[in-house]
Amino acid sequence: MVSGGALGQPENDRGAWNSRLGFILAAVGSAVGLGNIWRFPFTTAEGGGAVFLVIYLVILVIVGLPVMLGELALGRRGKLNPVGTFRRLANGHPFWVGVGVLFVLTSLFIISWYSVIGGWVLRYIWGSANGSYFADPAGYFNEIQDGPIALGLHAFVIGITALVLAIGVSKGIERVAFIMMPILFVLVVGIAIWVATLDGAGEGYSFYLSPDFSEFDTDILRSATGQAFFSLSLGQGAILTYASYLDDRESLSDNGTIISLADTGVAVLAGFMIFPALAVAGLLTTEAGPGALFIGLATAFAELGTVGRILGSLFFTALFFAAFTSAISLLEPSISFVRDQFKVPRVKAAILMGIIAYIGGIFAALSRTYFGIAAGDGTDIVVILGGLLISLFAGWFLMDAPEEMNRGGRLRLGHYAMWMCRIPIPVVLFTLLVLALVDYVNAIRAGEVFLGL
Ligand code: PHE
Repeated sequence: MVSGGALGQPENDRGAWNSRLGFILAAVGSAVGLGNIWRFPFTTAEGGGAVFLVIYLVILVIVGLPVMLGELALGRRGKLNPVGTFRRLANGHPFWVGVGVLFVLTSLFIISWYSVIGGWVLRYIWGSANGSYFADPAGYFNEIQDGPIALGLHAFVIGITALVLAIGVSKGIERVAFIMMPILFVLVVGIAIWVATLDGAGEGYSFYLSPDFSEFDTDILRSATGQAFFSLSLGQGAILTYASYLDDRESLSDNGTIISLADTGVAVLAGFMIFPALAVAGLLTTEAGPGALFIGLATAFAELGTVGRILGSLFFTALFFAAFTSAISLLEPSISFVRDQFKVPRVKAAILMGIIAYIGGIFAALSRTYFGIAAGDGTDIVVILGGLLISLFAGWFLMDAPEEMNRGGRLRLGHYAMWMCRIPIPVVLFTLLVLALVDYVNAIRAGEVFLGL
């Protein structure tokens, strides 16, 4: 086992955050993404509105936050990419090295479909500005999901993501987060307030906030947990890698709590934008589902005419910023992997991983079936598995985990996190994983895949 702080010079050229705020913004940038604005509202709607919200918040405290602290602690102790970190902390044990490899592969897998949606979002900024989806929002969504333009925009998103990463940790990742995150926050709050002034918004709030306990079942538990991990960027190395660039004096308990709260805050706020907007368009109940945003909200914008053009362009710009800063964090684990392990220079590593992510995304941009499987339960399953592995490692194998988590801050959640990671979280996650796999196999057999396509 390696203790933090005494790792010597070799890692110094890996990069480091310039400031605490820079790290927080970058990590919040990773966490706040399509998961908050696109996935959270419809998962909430499907899960019965307020009931889901309550379960989500509980899961966040008992599962999400401890795993967040565990992943942060692992990354900062290991001070390397996921593979190097596990190798170092587990003294080269092949199982854990394999887990590191799994993380690198998972992050590449997620970015490959994630950046395809990033491309759709770009198209919607344009489509809002010139009103091109106003006549037929559902038809537009259907049309833009795949094909050569979707592929081209996917390439573009991957290209600019790799570009930022080629520039580096503080000059690239941190700088983009510094610019985009405040703008995103202002846009989200501004749009939520604006939407509140529209006629008919009230119904949206009651839909979002009135509990429907008849919807409660284990599926909700699973989707809330998968959603929490996905939204917090846990279980595939993004937070681990970002933490590897973090100074030893920084408090993980404090920073991890801030990141989790900010992420949840934006998700809850996104509900305050989307449900009232859907209510205004009269689409509240019919359009809950993955199309809620791209069809439902788009219809709401279309009905608002010129106001909708402005509102729509701003909204999709905010969504793009959110997706972009998350995409950056999804490509970084694999880049830091080839940098640390094979001493490939950052620029070359970024080009190489950009190409691999691009190729992975070809499937998502051309096949709806693949996209459906990948973006839906496929991702839930891999991040829940990743969360389980992090929690086991942090709970049982990371020496002095509580001390690592508590050092230097006001909050002292280390012991709580470690105990949760030892037994309760693994039990919950293992159970959910089994249930998810059973469901997943059944869904594939029945030919039902995500998005219903
Ligand atoms: N957390 C991001 C979102 O909510 C997605 C993401 C997952 C980013 C995993 C990095 C790692 O959109």
